[in-house]
Formats: sequence, C-alpha cells, structure tokens
Amino acid sequence: MSALSDLAALERPDSFVARHIGPDETQIAAMLKVVGAPSLDGLIAETIPESIRTNAVLALPAAEDEAAVLARLRGLASRNVVKKSLIGLGYHGTVIPPVIQRNVLENPGWYTAYTPYQAEISQGRLEAILNFQTMIASLAGMEIANASLLDEATAAAEGVAMAFAMHKAGSKVIAIAKDVHPQTRAVIATRAWPHSWKIVDVVPGDIAGIEAVKPFALVLNYPGSTGAVRDLTAEIAAVKSAGGMAVTCADLLSLTLLTPPGEMGADIVVGSAQRFGVPMGFGGPHAGFFATKNAFKRSMPGRLVGVSVDAAGRPAMRLALQTREQHIRREKATSNICTAQVLLAVMAGFYAVWHGPEGLKAIARRVNLQARLLAELVRKAGFSLRHDTFFDMLAIEAGAKADALMQAAEAAGFNLRRIDETGIGIALDETVTRSELETLAELFDGKLAEAQLSIPKAFERQSEFCMEEVFRAHHSEHLMLRYLKRLEDKDVALNRSMIPLGSCTMKLNAAVEMAAVTWPEFADIHPFAPKHQTQGFKLLIDELAALLCEVTGFAAVSLQPNSGAQGEYAGLLTIRAFHEARGEGMRNICLIPASAHGTNPASAAMAGYKVVVVACDKLGNVDVADLHKKIEEHGERLAALMITYPSTHGVYETAIRDICQAVHAAGGQVYMDGANMNAQVGLTSPANIGADVCHLNLHKTFCIPHGGGGPGVGPIGVAAHLASHLPTHPLRPDAGPATGFGAVSAAPFGSALILPIPYAYIRLMGPEGITRATKAAILNANYISKRLEAAYPILYRGERGRVAHECIVDCRGFAANAGVQVEDIAKRLADYGFHAPTMSWPVAGTLMIEPTESEDKGELDRFCDAMLSIAGEIALIASGTWSKDDNPLKNAPHIAAEVMAEEWTHAYSRQVAAFPLSYVAAQKYWPPVKRVDNVYGDRNLVCSCAPLDAYLEDVA
Ligand SMILES: Cc1ncc(COP(=O)(O)O)c(C=O)c1O
Repeated sequence: MSALSDLAALERPDSFVARHIGPDETQIAAMLKVVGAPSLDGLIAETIPESIRTNAVLALPAAEDEAAVLARLRGLASRNVVKKSLIGLGYHGTVIPPVIQRNVLENPGWYTAYTPYQAEISQGRLEAILNFQTMIASLAGMEIANASLLDEATAAAEGVAMAFAMHKAGSKVIAIAKDVHPQTRAVIATRAWPHSWKIVDVVPGDIAGIEAVKPFALVLNYPGSTGAVRDLTAEIAAVKSAGGMAVTCADLLSLTLLTPPGEMGADIVVGSAQRFGVPMGFGGPHAGFFATKNAFKRSMPGRLVGVSVDAAGRPAMRLALQTREQHIRREKATSNICTAQVLLAVMAGFYAVWHGPEGLKAIARRVNLQARLLAELVRKAGFSLRHDTFFDMLAIEAGAKADALMQAAEAAGFNLRRIDETGIGIALDETVTRSELETLAELFDGKLAEAQLSIPKAFERQSEFCMEEVFRAHHSEHLMLRYLKRLEDKDVALNRSMIPLGSCTMKLNAAVEMAAVTWPEFADIHPFAPKHQTQGFKLLIDELAALLCEVTGFAAVSLQPNSGAQGEYAGLLTIRAFHEARGEGMRNICLIPASAHGTNPASAAMAGYKVVVVACDKLGNVDVADLHKKIEEHGERLAALMITYPSTHGVYETAIRDICQAVHAAGGQVYMDGANMNAQVGLTSPANIGADVCHLNLHKTFCIPHGGGGPGVGPIGVAAHLASHLPTHPLRPDAGPATGFGAVSAAPFGSALILPIPYAYIRLMGPEGITRATKAAILNANYISKRLEAAYPILYRGERGRVAHECIVDCRGFAANAGVQVEDIAKRLADYGFHAPTMSWPVAGTLMIEPTESEDKGELDRFCDAMLSIAGEIALIASGTWSKDDNPLKNAPHIAAEVMAEEWTHAYSRQVAAFPLSYVAAQKYWPPVKRVDNVYGDRNLVCSCAPLDAYLEDVA
C-alpha cells in the first residue's frame, strides 16, 4: 500500500501544465515583485472586476499527462474506420509527398508562423503563397488568384457576393446549375438569405433557362458534381449577356487535362486545393481558391501576395491591396476574410512545385485512365453510365442493384457515392492502386482490359500551365528539401522567438497536441463517409463541444465555422434566425464599438445588418452614454451588439454587465467576439458576463497553430434560447439542430482534422492548469507593461492600473523629436530577432503586445531589453547624435549583405546595426530583405511568380 502511494506521488498527471506555462514559481515571484502585486491571485483581483469573476473551478476533467492524452486520442482514432473513399463531392484521396509532410505540415517553422503582415520577416511563406497563387491562376486559366479562402463552398459564396457587388442591372437572382455540389449550393443559400437573393436551379446547359431569369451570378461545377464534363462557353456567355458573372467551381487536377474555365470566359473560378497533397481530414482544413481577371482585382475577396521592391530596389514580397480588406474598409470591405487557409495553400503550392506540370499531368492521366478502364468494364457488365464524357468520376445507373453494390463495395473496403435511388458514383484518385482497381472491377464481375477515351479532343487543354521556373527546379528530394529549408529560414516563427502580437495569442503549439493531425484514422476520413465509420470523430467533436460549453458557460456549441470571422457571421445569422422565429425580422441594426476589429462590421454586413458605430471614451471603453443613445434611437430595430471582451484596448470594462443588460432590455442580443478569450478562461466567461453568442478562436486560445495565416477554427457557443438556430448541414443532419438556419462551411464540422489540438490542450491542462494559464498570461502582460512604461507610455489600463492579457504601448510621441514612426520600431525589432507586436491596431501609432502565458521571464526580458534598447536609440536620434534620416531605425531591417559590404557610410556601427545587444549574436536572425515598399507594390501589381523568360532575360 505504501509503495502504491509512493507510486501515486511520483506520477505527475499535470506535468504538462509546467511545460505549457513559461514562468515557473521562482520567475513568477520575481515578476510579481516588479509588477508590485502581492501574489498571482492578488494581481488577478486587481485586474478583473469582482462583479464578473466566477469563483467556481471549471468542471473540466482533471489534467492528464502527454502519454495519457495520446492514448485517449488513439482510442478515439480507433473508433474511425478508414476505407478508401471514392465519394468525390470535392474531396479526394491524395498522396502527401513525405518531403512536404515532414518539412512543412509537421514543421513548426512553417505551422507556427503568423499572417505575413511584417513582410520583411515573412519572405519564405510569402514566396510559398505566391507559388500557390501562380499555380491556381495558371491552372484556372485566369489572370490573378488570391492567397486562399476557407473552402470551396465559401469561395463560391464569395464569388456570388462579388458578382452582386459588381452588378449594375438590379437582378437579385442567382442561377445555380443542378450539378453543383449540394454543400456549395447550401452555403450560397445561406449567404443569399439575409439579402433576399433568390436562387433558381437550372438544368446544366439550359441556356434559355439562364436567359429567362437574368441572374447576377451563375454558379457552375466543372466537372459536374457527378462527373460530367461539358463545354461551359455558352452558359457563361448567357449570364454575361444578362449583365451577370459566371462563377465556376473547378476541380484542380482535372484542369491539367481539360480546357480551363478561364478559356471558356469564366469571370471567377473557385475550388478546393485539397487534392493537391492535403489530407481529407473529415472535411478540412483545406485551401479554398479564388481566381479572377485583373480588371476585378480590387473587388476580389481575401488576401493577396504581391511582388514589390525593398529599400535597395531588390524584389521583395508583401500583402498587396490591403485597403480592400476589412481592417480598413470595415462594413464596406469585399469580404470578412481575415484568417484563411495559408498552411494548406502553402502545401498545395509545394505539391505543384514538387510534381511540376508534367508530374501533375501524369497523375491526372493515370486517374483518368483508371476511370476509363472501370467505365468499360461497368458497361460490359450491363450497366449504363450517366455521362460518357468524364475526367475521374463515373456515374453508374445501377437500378435495383444500387443497394447491393454499395454494400459490396463497403465490404471490399470502398466508400462509393450514393447519388440517388439508383445512381452510384465512383471518383478515382491518385491513391488508388492497381490491385484496388482490380478489386473494384470484381464488384462488377469483370476484369480490367480496354478503355475508351472519355475526354473528347475539343475539351482537351491546349495551353501550358505552371511554366515558371519554380515548378521545374525542385524535383529531386534534396533540391526540394533545401528549397523548403531556404524559405523557412527567411521567416520568424515561434520556433525562433516570441511573437508578441496583440489580439493574436501566439502561444505554445505543443508537439503532443499536433501529433494526431497526421494519423490516418483522422487524416484519411472523407467528410461524407458513412456515419458508422466516423464515430471516433463524432465522439471527439461532441466531447470538445461539451468542454467548450463548460469554458464559455453556454448551452451549445457549433464547430462548423472555419475562422473567427466566419464564427461572427454564423453567430449573427443565429441571432437573425432567432429574431425571425419570434416574428421580429425587422430587427436589422448591429451596434459595434468604434474599437472593434474590422471583421465585426464586415461580418455584420454579410449577415444583412446595418452597422451603427458606438463611440469609445478616452480610456478605450464603450461610451455608455452613447450606447444608450443609440439603443434608444434604434429601439425595436436593434438586432445585436457586437463586443470584444476584454476590449480590444486590453482592458476589462467594468460596465460590461450593464452594457449587456441595456441591449437585452431593448430586445437585442449580445454577440461577444471571443478573440480575447485567453483573458477569460477559468476566471470569467461570456455567459457569465451576459453574452448570448460568442465565437472562440481555437487558433488563438486553444493552441491550434496559426499556420502563417490559417487554418483557423471559429466555433460559436450560444445560450440555450439560441441553440435551436445553430448552423446545420445538408449532408450530415447530426451536424446541427434540425431547426438550424443552414450551412456556413462546406464540411459539416468545419476543419475537423485539427480538433484534436484544442481537445488535447484542454485535457492536458485540466481545470486548474487552464485557469493558471490565464493568470500567467495576465501576469506576463503586466510585467511587460511595467518594464516598458518608463520608455513607452501604456495607453490604457483598468481602474486599478492593471492591463489585461495585452497592453498597448504608445509610440506616437517619437515622431516630433526623433522623426520615428511606429513602423520604424517594428522593423528595427527584426534586427533584434523579434516579430513586431500588432502595429497601429486598434490605435494608429501604437504597438499592442500580447506575450501569452507560454513565454518565460527570460524571453520576456529579451523582448523588453530590445524595446528599451530601441528607446535608447530613439533618444540618440532625438539628441542629434544620429540624423533623423540615417539611423538604425530608419534603415531597419539590416541585411547581411549590407552589414558585410566593403562600404559602410552610416554614423552608427555595423555592430549596432546587426548585433545591438549581446544576446542577439547567440542566434542571429538575418532578415532576407530590407524595408519593403508597399506603395510601389500596389502601383505595380504583380501577383504571380516571374515567368521563365524573365530568368532567360537575366541570363542574357
Ligand atoms: C478581435 C478580433 N476579432 C476577430 C478576429 C478575426 O478572427 P479570424 O482571423 O480567425 O477570422 C480577430 C483576428 O485577429 C481579432 O483580433
């Protein structure tokens, strides 16, 4: 017995907590001293208003160690059944090139990076995204493609919205071909609902049908959902002559062999890049793509990488045309996209780099030949095919044999698509082996032998694609490995140093949390696989939803939204459905504080709401008097208030409860933006504060890595009265309530493949650990604010002088006496090896710093030392020691070539330029480019890789 209790004492089920939280007890004590707080709990008491504190411990399962959580995940994985899914519907088996799996998908150098806002330290991923854009535009036969969208269906909905925005003739009709994937149609229908756009389903090829309804958008699938390939030229011409736009959802692999939609006149081509080396993962995350014509570039949704020049005139990349985006244009933005699917776009781009155009064509030809071989045999077996012209999918008229065939296929290890009562679909993919094809043949009692052509000459692609050097230069594994490493080394990610981005919560993405993502039992599951094969996923999803309900205090959670902004959209639609169900559909006003993130107004506009801005006071809090005024003004038209808590200014507003009550009293609902949930977990909750809906950014608070700009998961939690209005899905009724409003994502459970990450995090931390993480995050932010306050004014504090989990340092005062702008400080931080904090948001001229709980005192000190050293440099400029135009800040960042050059003309030394503090030398990060010129890049927009002849010109 005593040996057993000794054993228990040696077991450390909560051992992960100390791995996740940076500061240990000694460091915490030292930091509390600096901060001037008696204890961690004492600090929290001074920070979070008593009125909103919850003192009960979260009812979460106790912490488990890494081995136990992995075993738990293995148990869930084992409840999924991996069959070869030949269902199609936009999801296909694919071979992830191992060189990409190991060096990108499983490499923190790639998956922990942030969105490339700081271009100089992001050249690697910017180049990778440029590859993706180039590949997409080229395959689609279009001129320009963006940096990815959330999935195929939302990309199609974005295309429809863009068509509406550009439409002049006043139509409110969307025509959707009947062979468009059902989930795509469903997501478009959701987008149409708040704007009263009418959907008309048209028979494929029915030109007169299109002409009759004069739509502002026509949505087509290419090939059709059941595999038919047809010439779309006449349909596209018909919608154009009605003044509308053609949005074509295209299969990327087929475009290597088929005439691309761009050459048939399409205005917008969208789709999913999943089958380019990204696992199906029960529906996501995958990169949606969006390609269009140059003329429409300013109306295009999503991010866009463009080539510009740096301060030395050399090519350098950065995000282009940002003034289109929600952070500037707010409710007038082209879309609400913020987090997209960058990591997956990067992988798909690398897949094309790895295979090159010839390799891609070979894969496509093989898949096509497999389909043709099978087609011949199926015909010989006496079945008819619904289409004789196809790329990779057969639609078999199986009559009374349909049930038996489906069952026999499943027994033999295959999931086929049940198209309808008598139709069966088989979509071939690159993972299908010769012997699997033979097994499929046996289902039809035949042997593979002959094949007829399935793509008539007229439909064959004549144009070249992916001709750029990058798609030809990396086909051996060494070359590819080194290319990936070269790009990775150009960037700052979390495996190099802290990324103190306010509002982004760049915390530890632990290796154990990532492990399950590439297990075949999770990775190789089709989103529309039979329910009985996906029980492990369903258990995981239900359990995670229950854990998130406990953390938020809500009654129900939907995991369908793929990003925070998509959560906002879904949450507002839930509110809309609630009001409509109560006969209060006239409520159309959404109040949004001036300090809100740009996605809030952009999402409100998408949900059909009119945005009314509520002022903030000089402390950064909601101006309660203005709120009351606006509530009174809009009375029974008030639909919702959107509010971030703690505020985007990093303060726990004491009036929050009253704010929520005032909105409720007027019949409105409170939408809480949960981006700052890392300051709430275990200490308070959205439900406790008074919110009705809240989205969570699982890619912030719950450890999903940011992937260089995505993936994200933005589930929404809702109070009981809203639960029956949550999102649903046409192909998976158990994905939401029967009474829900519809789908916001292509896949029933959104980005299901990455749900093991937050699940593992919560199980590893347990209720005490996860609450301690919140406290440590608050301590870290207060420690930074204390260390920096003498050099940088702290813009906002709570009533007792404390900041929440982040703080805003004011840099505006340096302009007058030193000519230094906030951007100079941000760029100079790169010379010290740091990613800059969030720059000029939510207040222009400031830096918002969020350290998270995962950074220890050593790293916080290095960062503070850098900031203080920069303040010292600014003082030298102000005192005239260095000129205002030629100093380490204005010239930052410094690249190796200039520091090592023969000539050095500056008043400060090379040492100051590149090694300004002693610790920098220990692990010097060399920015690959000097300051990037944004204006030049937008004026001379180039959004694809240089063509091969550019290199030839160089050589000449
Ligand atoms: C306050 C706030 N709201 C919403 C969002 C949007 O979240 P996402 O990027 O996941 O769409 C962000 C993103 O940084 C944010 O900071």
